[in-house]
Amino acid sequence: MNSKIAIVIIIIKEEDYADYEIAINTTKCYAKHFGYQMHLIYAEKTVEIQENCKQNDIYFKRHCALAWFLEENKNTIDYALYIDADMGVINPCHTIQEYIDVDEKIEIIFYERYYNHEIAAGSYLLKNTQTSRSFLLYWSNYKLPESFHGTDNGALHVSVL
Ligand SMILES: *[C@@H]1O[C@H](CO)[C@@H](O)[C@H](O)[C@H]1NC(C)=O
Repeated sequence: MNSKIAIVIIIIKEEDYADYEIAINTTKCYAKHFGYQMHLIYAEKTVEIQENCKQNDIYFKRHCALAWFLEENKNTIDYALYIDADMGVINPCHTIQEYIDVDEKIEIIFYERYYNHEIAAGSYLLKNTQTSRSFLLYWSNYKLPESFHGTDNGALHVSVL
């Protein structure tokens, strides 16, 4: 089963890789140890993302890019853990399977920031289904109001509702 679980990281510009290398190295090591797929996607270099994800805001573009990537790979990826490029593995003694719903009814899992009850946009676990891909597209196309909004993190709350 592990081989159909993927860790996906999306970087907009390839030259930014060096900024995230320490964190990405920990994730690569973790993925290799547990036999997970690891995908590093450079959004600006990927023609399909440029064509299908026209968002100007890079935060929204990433969620759209993920929806596209999961659609393209729906035969080989059952579950995807999306993480921000600057996130590293601190406790490698936990597997991704521990967070997968055994009844397979839950399609997306976000986490809550303990200090303000906000649903965090920076990492989430998805079952690769039409519903979760549609959710990502809905979220990534959300039109922000002209006031304080917190970009994709604000839009996430509206999308969840
Ligand atoms: C990341 O891993 C690569 C390959 O093992 C290594 O060459 C590189 O120095 C590492 N980078 C950092 C920042 O530790």
